[in-house]
Amino acid sequence: MKVKKLMISAAEKLDDKPEPLLKVTDLKTWFPVKRGFFSKTADHVRAVDGVCLRIYRGETLGLVGESGCGKTTLGRTLLGLEKSNGGKAFFDKIPLHELKRHEMNRLRERIQVIFQDPLSSLNPRMTVIDIVTEGLVQFKKIEGSRKEHAVRLLKEVGLVADSIYRFPHEFSGGQRQRISIARAISLRPEFIICDEAVSALDVSIQAQVINLLISLQQRYQLSYLFISHDLSVVSNIADRIAVMYLGQIVESGTTLDIIHNPLHPYTKALIAAVPVPGKSRSRRIPLKGEIPSASSPPPGCRFHTRCPEVLKICSQKAPVRGTIDGREVLCHLFSHA
Ligand SMILES: Nc1ncnc2c1ncn2[C@@H]1O[C@H](COP(=O)(O)OP(=O)(O)OP(=O)(O)O)[C@@H](O)[C@H]1O
Ligand SMILES: [Mg+2]
Repeated sequence: MKVKKLMISAAEKLDDKPEPLLKVTDLKTWFPVKRGFFSKTADHVRAVDGVCLRIYRGETLGLVGESGCGKTTLGRTLLGLEKSNGGKAFFDKIPLHELKRHEMNRLRERIQVIFQDPLSSLNPRMTVIDIVTEGLVQFKKIEGSRKEHAVRLLKEVGLVADSIYRFPHEFSGGQRQRISIARAISLRPEFIICDEAVSALDVSIQAQVINLLISLQQRYQLSYLFISHDLSVVSNIADRIAVMYLGQIVESGTTLDIIHNPLHPYTKALIAAVPVPGKSRSRRIPLKGEIPSASSPPPGCRFHTRCPEVLKICSQKAPVRGTIDGREVLCHLFSHA
């Protein structure tokens, strides 16, 4: 697998900060839980509950966390597919949280998405030529023939030209994901949300698709939000990693820092649980129990019910986000407030 140069991102330099391409502040997406005969809203699932993050041009932010912690909901909220209940998200200074659906649709030229399962995200009745050029037609960007564009896009993702008249089910999983990538890059977007984009693929195919994403990123200066529950996959592509737990980012920093020197007990547990390239597996710190319900998160620090380093204050008071050595941590062990 191509080893991505891990660099101290511009985000970590205290001086000389460029403007982020995406800036998210205190974003909340709650789903109503309805009960009773009149379907009254009895509660809320706080899927995304106060998320702050930044993504700079040309970088990949990896988003990791256990199933149900809110990764997909965060991605869908940024795409305008879920409505936020609070907070702000700016893309190149455009307030995503204020956009109407048609305004969001116009932004599709600049923000794209790749989902986990291309079989369900690619229309089975459409041929590849129609799939990969659909956006170009919609945005009136076809110059020359549709076929020329389709052949060029397939070449960019490593597929042969005679694939254009075939249907999605005629391809392997890896090839289908390449078609999804061709569709995603067709409009030359600046930002792509990859939600578990390689999770359904075999390990060797995962590596090929990650290499493709990295080379496209370098060619077009793309920014990625790379969502995955698999920290070892994320560490192969991300410049920085944000760790999510029960709707909140509990730690974020450079991939090197997160992998080699995790600070938050939850990050430590995630790292200990998986083999990560370039790092010997440390003593396993088992995570106790299941992730609590997002409709009634534990008081104080949300992780305190499972934390091996829990303090008395953790169940009483929510921690304040602190910055330590260029990374952000939400934990009483590092809170100076
Ligand atoms: N449309 C919805 N209505 C109600 N609850 C929802 C909805 N979508 C997601 N949720 C809930 O929001 C929480 C976060 O779900 P989400 O799918 O964002 O998690 P995830 O981190 O992407 O998980 P996974 O790794 O399994 O994909 C979960 O408790 C989930 O049940
Ligand atoms: Mg998900």
